Parts: sequence; C-alpha cells; structure tokens
Amino acid sequence: KIYRASTTAPVNIAVVKYWGKRDVQLNTPTNDSVSVTLSQDDLRTLTTASCSASYPAGDSLVLNGESFDVSGARTQACFRELRARRAAVEAADPSLPKLSTLPLKIVSENNFPTAAGLASSAAGFAALVRAIADLYELPDSPSELSIVARQGSGSACRSLFGGYVAWRAGTKEDGSDSMADLVAPASHWPDMRALILVASAAKKGVSSTSGMQKTVATSGLFKGRLTDVVPRNMALIEEAIKNRDFAQFAEVTMRDSNSFHACCADTYPPIFYMNDTSRAAVRAVESINEQAGKTIAAYTFDAGPNCVVYYLQEHESTILGAFAGVLGGVTGWTANGVGAKPAVQL
Ligand code: DP6
Repeated sequence: KIYRASTTAPVNIAVVKYWGKRDVQLNTPTNDSVSVTLSQDDLRTLTTASCSASYPAGDSLVLNGESFDVSGARTQACFRELRARRAAVEAADPSLPKLSTLPLKIVSENNFPTAAGLASSAAGFAALVRAIADLYELPDSPSELSIVARQGSGSACRSLFGGYVAWRAGTKEDGSDSMADLVAPASHWPDMRALILVASAAKKGVSSTSGMQKTVATSGLFKGRLTDVVPRNMALIEEAIKNRDFAQFAEVTMRDSNSFHACCADTYPPIFYMNDTSRAAVRAVESINEQAGKTIAAYTFDAGPNCVVYYLQEHESTILGAFAGVLGGVTGWTANGVGAKPAVQL
C-alpha cells in the first residue's frame, strides 16, 4: 500500500525583510519580518509526499525531475520533526498505521525556473512540510507547522499562510516561539498586485544563507537596523495593512528594502545584489509616483537583482505602461495577485 498526499504552496515576497540568524542550527532570525503571499496562478511549487513499506530503504526527494540530496541538515530537520509529530499521533492511537517508520518519497515541481531567484526555497519547503503533514494527517495548525518549515528555509515559514503574513522572531532558546502568523487574509486587501521584473535569471552570487551571516558578523549599520529600523517598520507595516493605507505600505516597503541593501553594502567585504537594471527600476518607480502626484508603486529587492513592484489593481495599466519602455535589461515579468495558502490537491 502507498500512502500519498499532494499540495501546492505559494511564493511570498517580504516587505519587511528577514536578514540575519540568531541561531544558525535552529534557523531562528534576528528580527521579525512581514511578507505578502502571491497567487499561485503563475508561481507555485507542487509537491507530492508518499510513504510505503514497499519503497526501498531511505528517504528520497526529486525536484524538477532531478534527484535532490536529502542528507542536508535542513531537509533532515524537517523530516525528523514531522516524523516525531506523526509518532506522537500514532502513540496516542495505536490503531493508526505506523507511517512514521516508512521511507518517504517526495516529488516536487516548480512552475517557474528554480535558478531565477524567485523565492523558490520558500515555496519549496512550505510545500514539502504541508504535503508531509497532510500525508501524516497531523493536527498541527499552520503556525505550528511554520516552526518546521522555518528549519528548512526561514522565508518558507511565511508561505504556509495566504495574504499578509508575519514571522515573529521569538525569544525562546529552543526556537519554539519563532513562527509565522496571519496579519490579514488576502480578502482583507485583495486588490494588491506584485509585478516581478526578472533582471537576471542567473543564480545568486552570494546565497542569502551565507550573506546574512556575513552581515551579522561585520556590519555596524545592521545593529541600528535591529534596534531601530525593523521595530519601527514592523509597527508601521502592520498598521498600513490593517488600514489598507497603500502610501504608508509603499514607503515602509521601499525604506526597508533600502535599509536591507544598505546593510549588505556595509557588510565587509560588501555584498551587492542590485545591479544597473535594478537601479533603473527604482528610478522608474520614483518617476511613476512623481507623475501620479502620490505613491502608487513600491519597489522591493531580495537577495538578487530582480525587482518586485507592489501596486493596486486600479493602477495596473499605468504601472505596466510605465515599465514597458524603460527597462532594457528585464528578461521577463509576471503580474501577480495576493494569494491563498497552500492548497490540497486531490
Ligand atoms: C532577502 O529564507 O532564503 O529574501 O533561512 O537561510 O534559507 P535561509 O534564508 P532565506 O532568506 C530570505 C531573505 C530575503 C528576505 C525575506 O524573504 O524575508
């Protein structure tokens, strides 16, 4: 007999950035963060988890058709935690099949290029955790599962929810309070859009995992980000989301991206994620806002040169029109709505 569950999981793009680890093993962050979950029409990971006594010994994972090494600490942490939770369920009800002892087979596919720097680890680990939790029929809430996903990739903990999501850094040493929660569902502010401008499909120069550790170790500016910038931005962004105040949402988003990239430049040796095309996108957003006479667009950049522009649906033609001519270096783009949480596939 083969037991099986499938799910899709969305990409999320942070507006207050996670950058810095408090504990590298537990993958707890130095600061809170907030993201917007994108719709799964264009960008999503589809993952099937199965287990069976008939499988060869050992867990396996196939990602986009290629076999992926599961011996890494992060994948192992996810498997171990989910198995332990299943084992607890089995101990409470001995009539249940002992799935926790069977080899796992995971098959995962992105409907977008993994290397394009489009937050693939977030959707990937969120889908992996959600699929195994469904296979094991775990009673855990998305917040409880976010503790597991966090150990796969920090940003993944926010992809277990739809809409507007916060990851609370937590203070406990074992990481048990470092989890995601819902700020507001997608339906609260459904006309939010995210335009992704692909400035380079090349793989990242410095991975976020190693980049953020170098920033923590060497940047003086980063200390002020933790004590001053992020606490202020967290309060302002949650308020902006609650009040559906786009101008405030946009200013915090742009300021936080700038603060993050300033800390990268202040890292020694410095890390540069944005390129000439990224900077042209910043100027394009500034000129869109100037011409509109108010803030209708906000840029943000993760650990790569691709620009994400947040705007409201009513301004879509203005935004797309403005970007059509300006950006020579853009190799592709996709406009996305704010989306839903991981969804079971039958
Ligand atoms: C700039 O989640 O990729 O996108 O926990 O080491 O896997 P690991 O890092 P990752 O870092 C994401 C950094 C960011 C900001 C964000 O998504 O909040």
